[in-house]
Amino acid sequence: VKMYHIELTASMLIILSLIALLIALTYKIIKQKNALKGINRELKESNQVKTEFLANVSHELRTPLTVIMGYSELLTERLAKEENATNLKFVQTIHRKSEDLLSLINDLIDFSRIESGKLELRLSRFNVEEVINETVEELATSAEKKQHSMNVEHRNTPLLLLADRGKIKQIISNLLQNAIKYTPTGGCITVRTYNAGEFCNIEVEDNGVGISEEQMKHIYQPFKQADSSYNKKYEGFGLGLAITKNLVQSHHGNIRVQSTPGKGSLFIVSLPKEIDK
Ligand SMILES: Nc1ncnc2c1ncn2[C@@H]1O[C@H](COP(=O)(O)OP(=O)(O)O)[C@@H](O)[C@H]1O
Ligand SMILES: [Mg+2]
Repeated sequence: VKMYHIELTASMLIILSLIALLIALTYKIIKQKNALKGINRELKESNQVKTEFLANVSHELRTPLTVIMGYSELLTERLAKEENATNLKFVQTIHRKSEDLLSLINDLIDFSRIESGKLELRLSRFNVEEVINETVEELATSAEKKQHSMNVEHRNTPLLLLADRGKIKQIISNLLQNAIKYTPTGGCITVRTYNAGEFCNIEVEDNGVGISEEQMKHIYQPFKQADSSYNKKYEGFGLGLAITKNLVQSHHGNIRVQSTPGKGSLFIVSLPKEIDK
């Protein structure tokens, strides 16, 4: 009987210490969970500060830049009349570089707008081929500079979309600009549209440098360029595809890519024809 008592007390003691251990552990977990919550809140706040800073800085940069662009345009007109070829060339370069800068700043503004959830869609019904033809025309000069041939194939016309026209144009423009940029001189770029049931598909294909499997993981991440070395070859912030993917998703569509390094890339965007359905 005595032995039995000792055994019972021993097991009771073990059980009691186990319970004490469990309580201590639970307490520690709760404490750490609260600490994590605090850190999470701080991270969110600092991210918000960063987004606001980005928005403010880019807006402040855009104002003087538009003044520079206005005056360089005015000067271009005057110098063209005076037939002053050298000065005209200088001013044209100023204007062109200001345009590049403006498009970078606009990307920053768009990105901060997306980050802070301030992106709004203005829906209208329009012809997607028209938007594509417009964009191709606008980018014709930069494609010609690299002696690319640009082909457009509209397989099922007319393709009508209920969407935000400006944002769809931005999607096409970003993909085309990348195709032009990431294809060596004398390349071939094709834009295709076709009907895919409830969806309208837009493809942008190039025979450029392509994207490796390793690079694939990062192409939609903001501020990520495949070549991130200091003296990188290609200009840009690495925001284009991040913005593009977001615009596609805000239309309830999806974006995919197929690519072989050294052979080229194919981006496929599927957009629902009626966004509110
Ligand atoms: N058509 C393409 N061919 C090859 N690589 C591409 C293509 N489009 C995008 N990429 C890769 O994806 C990265 C992200 O693209 P993007 O966000 O538009 O940034 P950026 O144009 O500023 O480099 C690019 O740096 C490039 O490495
Ligand atoms: Mg880009």
